[in-house]
Amino acid sequence: MDGNGRWAVERGLPRVEGHRAGADAVHRTVKACRELGLSHLTLYAFSEQNWRRPEAEVQALMQLLLEYVRRERAEILDNDIRLNAIGQIDRLPAFVRGPLRELMERSAGNRGMVLTLALSYGGREELVAATRRLAERVARGELAPDDIDEAALEGHLDTHDLPDPDLLIRTSGEERISNFLLWQLAYTELHFTPVAWPEFDRTHLLEALDRFGARERRFGLTSAQLGAPDSLASEKSRC
Ligand code: FPP
Repeated sequence: MDGNGRWAVERGLPRVEGHRAGADAVHRTVKACRELGLSHLTLYAFSEQNWRRPEAEVQALMQLLLEYVRRERAEILDNDIRLNAIGQIDRLPAFVRGPLRELMERSAGNRGMVLTLALSYGGREELVAATRRLAERVARGELAPDDIDEAALEGHLDTHDLPDPDLLIRTSGEERISNFLLWQLAYTELHFTPVAWPEFDRTHLLEALDRFGARERRFGLTSAQLGAPDSLASEKSRC
């Protein structure tokens, strides 16, 4: 969800007003994804590296998160959405962590869509933590080094209960991954748009989905193989 700061500065507003408008875009996007029947939406709301921003901006973002959790509570529960979070949630201030965890628990049984907020999240940090957990299990004799395969590593990631993303959308014209879901994006289709996140709406989402729908996802196979019923590609496309 990139471009909040630049969007605000271009309008002579403080950066935090860009984040506030960004929170409205979050509301619109969650609503549109739910209406369109998407099963999962993951939003990169605060990176591990974002802690190094000016204190006032970090505080404002934490306040916006709290307001979001409070304001969207009914929307999430009434629309059968499960709220989930990845990242170092323990690093969040207690005034955000408490209401966030409460709504996650309250919505845990919802099945309509999984909304995951990446908070204090970094892909490298996630991989280091997963590696450490695997090493600890090996040291305790619970796991042999030969047992460490893709499934074992995935099982120790924050996203262990989520499918890999089909589509990544990055707004504001930047074309990089910025430490987001580094493992999970291996076969994800990438969509970069110049639209700043506060301006992102249903039309932009539909455009991204349309383009996604026109792509051929081969997962390392050839086009000719994709029709084969027992191919890896057909396995993946069912996920
Ligand atoms: C990146 O834009 C955006 C962020 C670091 C924060 C995103 C936060 C929100 C959209 C609002 C709060 C979140 C929720 C879930 C309610 P930037 O600030 O780096 O923009 P810039 O590149 O133009 O400076």
